[in-house]
Amino acid sequence: MDESASIEDLGKKIDELMEKIKDFEDEKRDIVGELIESIEEFTKAGLVKIVRTLKKDPHGKELLLEMVREPEVYALFLKHKIIKEDDRVRAIKALELIKPYIRSHGGDVEFVDIREDTLYVKLKGACLGCSQVSFTLQQTILEAVQAYVPRIKKVELYKDSPVEAFVDLNSESDDYVKAFKLEDLQEGKIYRFSEGNIDAVVVIWNGNVYAYRNSCAHQGAPLHDGYITEEGNIVCPFHGFQYSVLSGECITVPYIQLEPIYVKVKEGYVWLKP
Ligand code: FES
Repeated sequence: MDESASIEDLGKKIDELMEKIKDFEDEKRDIVGELIESIEEFTKAGLVKIVRTLKKDPHGKELLLEMVREPEVYALFLKHKIIKEDDRVRAIKALELIKPYIRSHGGDVEFVDIREDTLYVKLKGACLGCSQVSFTLQQTILEAVQAYVPRIKKVELYKDSPVEAFVDLNSESDDYVKAFKLEDLQEGKIYRFSEGNIDAVVVIWNGNVYAYRNSCAHQGAPLHDGYITEEGNIVCPFHGFQYSVLSGECITVPYIQLEPIYVKVKEGYVWLKP
């Protein structure tokens, strides 16, 4: 096998071979099918062992996250159901695929969030300022993302001032939502609470509770599959940006930070303010 073959070439090769198998007599096809299944089970068992071992060690976990950013490793883990695929991850991957095209036109796109059937993105550079260009780009983005996340029906531009869908996150309402029983939460772990207008990560650190919007300040990716370092930083699982649990301040790059969510502990429960 050519070691420099791209993942697309390898995928094509597998598809071609699978097509050929279809012409085999039943008995031979069954044997090949069983052989493929056995090889896959064998591969999965090995991968699960590797992942479990790496996850036990903080450095191993970091390495694992780094590896998952490689498309080949990501595809392999996804295929064997070792990582969860959620719509945000899929949308971010789809955007990564069209970024070279957008950049070749002097612009850029950033994932912000998915709400219901709408994808929110930020356009940058040459994409801004011309409504015709941004309309065409929104169409291109919609087509690219729909191929991965069929539920997306609209692409909206997120401007730095909150758009309607985000207004509730900044609401002045006094209503808090009951999120977790305090005794169910362990120190130094990331918990996700997603309900209605809230998608938050909650962390207990030195006995205090902290909550932030579940969106990395780098490219808006969800943080809940990240982890907490010994120093008390939340690590984004996508490109490894680190944020102080105490303040949400980004350690990796100055001047950006996570959006805090009001949190209180009352009657043994953690409450969040939408
Ligand atoms: S999205 Fe890039 S570090 Fe979080």
